[in-house]
Amino acid sequence: MTRKLYLETFGCQMNVLDSELVMSQLRAQGYEAVADRAAADVVIFNTCSVREHAEQKVWSRLGELREAKADRPDMVIGVIGCMAEREGESIFTRFPHIDILCGPGELDQLPRMVHNACTTSVAPSEGGAGSATVGSPRQVALMGSTTRRSSTYETAKEDNLESLDLARTVSPSDNMRQAYVRITRGCNKFCTYCVVPFTRGPEVHRPPGNIVEEVKMLVGAGALEVTLLGQTINHYIFDHGGGRKTTFADLLYLIHESVPDLPRLRFVTSFPRDFTDLALQAMRDCPRICRYLHVPAQSGSDRILKAMNRGYTAEQYTDFVDRARAMMPDISLASDFIVGFPTETDDDFASTMELVRHCRFKNSFIFKYSPRPGTVAIDRFEDDVPDAVKRSRNNQLLALQGEVCASNNRLMIGKTVEVMVEGESKLVSKRAYPPAKVTLGWEARQGLPAGEAVSLTQLIGRTRGDQVVCFDGERSLKGELLNVEIVDARNLTLFGRRVPMHVAKV
Ligand code: SAH
Ligand code: SF4
Ligand code: F3S
Repeated sequence: MTRKLYLETFGCQMNVLDSELVMSQLRAQGYEAVADRAAADVVIFNTCSVREHAEQKVWSRLGELREAKADRPDMVIGVIGCMAEREGESIFTRFPHIDILCGPGELDQLPRMVHNACTTSVAPSEGGAGSATVGSPRQVALMGSTTRRSSTYETAKEDNLESLDLARTVSPSDNMRQAYVRITRGCNKFCTYCVVPFTRGPEVHRPPGNIVEEVKMLVGAGALEVTLLGQTINHYIFDHGGGRKTTFADLLYLIHESVPDLPRLRFVTSFPRDFTDLALQAMRDCPRICRYLHVPAQSGSDRILKAMNRGYTAEQYTDFVDRARAMMPDISLASDFIVGFPTETDDDFASTMELVRHCRFKNSFIFKYSPRPGTVAIDRFEDDVPDAVKRSRNNQLLALQGEVCASNNRLMIGKTVEVMVEGESKLVSKRAYPPAKVTLGWEARQGLPAGEAVSLTQLIGRTRGDQVVCFDGERSLKGELLNVEIVDARNLTLFGRRVPMHVAKV
């Protein structure tokens, strides 16, 4: 019997990739993905714990399912990912109707767990510890609850989790043009505010050979852009034994050389302290590596950076930015900031504003500090910056970043850039279909019979520097690499038009 599966993903790119890997395994076992939660036999939430808000969304989804589960006790509900790991079995106190709980470090076990939950029935009277839900016994796999945390734990788990990445299958019919590839799991940094080292476990680096094979497989299936993933990706180092090591810079060169048909190679997220000149040189020397770095600063105040355990000063951060720009003047930089970290004063915040002015980021993701259970910061500091102050600092930083972005964007006018077409612009896709038939101007008419009216819509594309460009084109262009000339820059958005010739992709 084919069971219908609904999988909803929250959180970062790691979770997006985990969902894809899990889905590919479950599909192979006969589960059919559906977009309508109400029609599903199995509902899985792949969750994020990074801020309270991220968890609240999942709590409210689980609340919505309470009644549905009462009506259909055979429906299987799974919570996987970082929130499953962070909450642990205490989640059952609030939501006894959950059947599956699986942390991100145990996802190789998920197909078996889903199968068990779907096929094993437990009468209500049998419910007890570990099997209280009507319909199926609970399936639990958490890193924190396992006894396998020995010195060989990481090695053993790496092999099991590695199998999840290695089992990935993509066929040309999936029409996948952009793909993620994990190179590192977990994080060892223990920034005082952050749950990730607790939910994803210690850093484990994947063997370079497996990474290259995966990239080749994706490119063979049609991928034009591969983004390598890691929480502190530039900290990658693989120890082959016998003194031989592959560094992050080596890995970049290796992929660039081994997969010459890949037009775009990117990576996120970088840790400021770990950037070697060799890694920057690899970016400079390899024309198909996008000159884009997401390298979160978090704060511009040395005192706050210390309290966050980030391991660098604001000056070291700006030195890094200056070094990167000196080597690649066209590099595009993005950052993350936390405002309202405990004890943050107006002066500390002014230093953050100063850092943004200096670094001229393409964009910044700005978050209000959210105290997270289990972290050092929640124990060590009172959450003493009032919410109104956090909000005001958030808005001020956003406004400054907006000004920086607008002035960066104005410098783009007149330039021709390569974009990867990602789809329709949100503004447009909200409008009624079909879009009006229009007669194209010369620039959009390339390859079409002269004067012919076709359906055009506003598309968005992403440059190699990760800027978003809106331009008119046919919907079928999704997934293509094209050249557009930037003709306007309004607020935070670049506007372009297609150009006829195909300039070199590099
Ligand atoms: N590994 C990445 C970031 C992972 S989490 C890095 O270290 O750069 C993504 C972002 O969420 C972080 O960069 C940080 O800005 C934000 N974040 C993490 N924990 C947070 C918390 N407790 N409150 C608010 N923002 C947080
Ligand atoms: Fe969290 Fe810091 Fe690790 Fe990033 S580097 S995942 S912020 S602990
Ligand atoms: Fe969230 Fe886990 Fe990613 S906490 S940000 S899903 S690593």
